[in-house]
Amino acid sequence: MSAWRSSPSPQFGGRATVPGDKSISHRALILSAMAEGESRIRGLLTSEDVMATAKAVEALGARIEGNGSEWRVEGGPWTSPEDPLDCGNSGTSARLLMGAAAGVEGLRATFTGDASLSRRPMHRITEPLSRMGARFDGADHLPITLHGQRLGGIDHVGRVASAQVKTALLFAGLRSKGPVRIVEPVPSRDHGEVMLLQFGVEVDAEPCPEGWCVRLGNQRSLRPTDIHVPGDPSSAAFLWAAAAIIHGASVTTPGVCINAGRTGFLEAIERMGARVEIDAERIQSGEPVADVTVSHDRLEPIHLAPDQVPSTIDEIPLLACVASFADGESHLEGLGELRHKESDRLGAVAAGLTANGVSVFPEADALRILGRGKVRGGGMVLAHGDHRIAMAFLTLGLGARQPVTLDDGRSIAVSFPGFAEVMRSLGAQLEELE
Ligand code: S3P
Repeated sequence: MSAWRSSPSPQFGGRATVPGDKSISHRALILSAMAEGESRIRGLLTSEDVMATAKAVEALGARIEGNGSEWRVEGGPWTSPEDPLDCGNSGTSARLLMGAAAGVEGLRATFTGDASLSRRPMHRITEPLSRMGARFDGADHLPITLHGQRLGGIDHVGRVASAQVKTALLFAGLRSKGPVRIVEPVPSRDHGEVMLLQFGVEVDAEPCPEGWCVRLGNQRSLRPTDIHVPGDPSSAAFLWAAAAIIHGASVTTPGVCINAGRTGFLEAIERMGARVEIDAERIQSGEPVADVTVSHDRLEPIHLAPDQVPSTIDEIPLLACVASFADGESHLEGLGELRHKESDRLGAVAAGLTANGVSVFPEADALRILGRGKVRGGGMVLAHGDHRIAMAFLTLGLGARQPVTLDDGRSIAVSFPGFAEVMRSLGAQLEELE
């Protein structure tokens, strides 16, 4: 265990760079490993989740050479790994790799994960991949063994928007000849589609009567390329949240991805009253990137509707923390998917807020938070081994009246190694306890 304490930090502010985007880093490694020849990746996130993907693609046949600034990936044919592929805590690794490997005829690979990942649903991936022709031993929970097969196409209409499902099916579709169409009720993050275009694959998306429809074209072979991964908005969100809740604070995060599938949190805190400035907008490896500044102002409560959840999905715990500093009742709806993340995030958020003196009313798939303009703090928060819960509540402690204690911060390395150093460089009072 490694307990942490975050304390009121009235001097918070400045400029800080966040590490590379996690979703884009996974996709860059997997597509580079599938493309025959050498691809180069700059700005790759070197967190535990992404390193699980790197090790897995190496075990499947890719050669990877890397250092902090640039990684070279030599892709080619995939073969059965000798050992199980350990995806650790990473749902994105397990789901995207199952898709990418499903069409390799004769390949056999067992996917394993830690206790949290082994509880998370996999049927949402194994069911449509089985319809394409793949075979699995096991269905809903890891460990699962994949037997790669010749695949047909798929017409998949998803009930919930999930970029992991969509991307897994697109990656499987690269090795199939049939038509591939995936429909989501509202668009989820489209980093997979953006990156497929960078690798020379035909993919398009448009609204359709059932929602949002993504199709693979006939040009499905991957051409190696160079990818420059932008900063992760889900990591920058902790800096933005601290600026939003601390009087007089202002933070600039250069080079952050502002893909519309990821800006829900930024839009939400702007609607609440925080001041948001977007500067130096540019395109980097197909992704929109900008320097983002967030400054404190008085916060109003917020209503988050279900169709706004996909673009805010990983920041909901943090948004609930920010809403605790608003004056009045916030209502976040359509949160059912949060029960299937690295922890039951609805339950973890409700318990963490309650421990810190916030009135919170959890419903089956919604949260009502009664903000009083300030937060007492002083509570002990259980992270449940979940990186986003850990960082959300350490951030809450920076703006609360009394310090917040976290039982265990080890999970932070899953997505944001260097979180404490970056926050301290801006004036955050964060300490690891004995
Ligand atoms: C991700 C998609 C989202 C998100 C996860 C990363 C991705 O999951 O919560 O952190 O990289 O595709 P779902 O697809 O389950 O919504």
